[in-house]
Amino acid sequence: MFKKALSYDDVLLRPRYSEIVTRSEVNLGVKLAEKVHLALPVFAAPMDTVMSPSMAAAVFQAGGVGILHRYCTIEEQVEMLETSFLLMPLQARPKTIVFGAVGITGNYFERASALIDAGARGICVDVAHGHHINVIEAVKKLKSKFPDVHVMAGNVATQEGYEALADAGADSVRVGVGGGSICSTRIQTGHGVPTFQSILECSRSDRDAAIIADGGIKSSGDIVKALAVGADAVMVGRMLAGTNEAPGEVIHNTAGFAQKVYRGMASPEAQQEWRGKYSSNEGVSRTVPLKGAAAGILFEMDKGIRSGLSYSGVRSIIELQARACFVVQTSAGRVESSTHIDL
Ligand code: IMP
Repeated sequence: MFKKALSYDDVLLRPRYSEIVTRSEVNLGVKLAEKVHLALPVFAAPMDTVMSPSMAAAVFQAGGVGILHRYCTIEEQVEMLETSFLLMPLQARPKTIVFGAVGITGNYFERASALIDAGARGICVDVAHGHHINVIEAVKKLKSKFPDVHVMAGNVATQEGYEALADAGADSVRVGVGGGSICSTRIQTGHGVPTFQSILECSRSDRDAAIIADGGIKSSGDIVKALAVGADAVMVGRMLAGTNEAPGEVIHNTAGFAQKVYRGMASPEAQQEWRGKYSSNEGVSRTVPLKGAAAGILFEMDKGIRSGLSYSGVRSIIELQARACFVVQTSAGRVESSTHIDL
């Protein structure tokens, strides 16, 4: 009855024999349905303290895709999308790939239609509990009307949830409930599954919707673990929060350090600002240090993931998934695994 569930910090990858001489031999490319090709398997989360047109452009330039958040009017979201296209610096490249998020009530279908008309290459059905009849119905409706548009849906924590959305037609599924750095779902509701475990479960399915590991990714090491256990790509909020491209004022704390706000979309602060009231309280609002350009963070991320693959002796994510060998570490191992000179 009580199934053990592992988190990123519970596991490590055993280093394997490698013939990789430089990181450039490693290819991080992944092809998702509807011609969405990522050179870096990373999505930027649809959150109002993460996503902006300049973040969409920066993430696309690094090889990933940004998802514009839905906490604004349809017109404002379309304007963000159009601005993202204008920021593409190399005119010869194809139009920036940007996704837009929608909900499942009210004007979600009109929102999706407006985003697609304006050039969005994917729609993300963005719901906290994605293993839900309304999400399934929304995915079916979107996929039947827009068969050529990538439809991402979530979030789910279990293989049953993943398969329900895949069977509804989702091209990719956000996997992870309660693991986000600003998330209090597990505290408020008692529900969730450590995200590493959720990915492991979903990867055993015979469905082919892409698995997007979402929530709780702190480092490129966590990204490598997520990919190795079966994710096709990851989604990050915290890692891109606090960059120049993340929306929000720069504030200085009492010690004079420059910071920005990073908050959950189910936090009272975010809901209050968007709707003028809050109905649920499953997220928190915090400040994070100002980190400079998103390109710098994405560059380090790319390098770290490539190094990760070379430690497993593989040149692609598919090879990583076939060759990865995990060990479970003890609490003493966890201490040894983080820098501990200050202990
Ligand atoms: P992070 O990368 O660990 O910061 O997690 C980002 C992810 O947290 C997002 O992609 C969402 O799936 C999730 N998330 C965003 N806002 C909230 C919230 O208010 N409560 C719970 N989860 C959230």
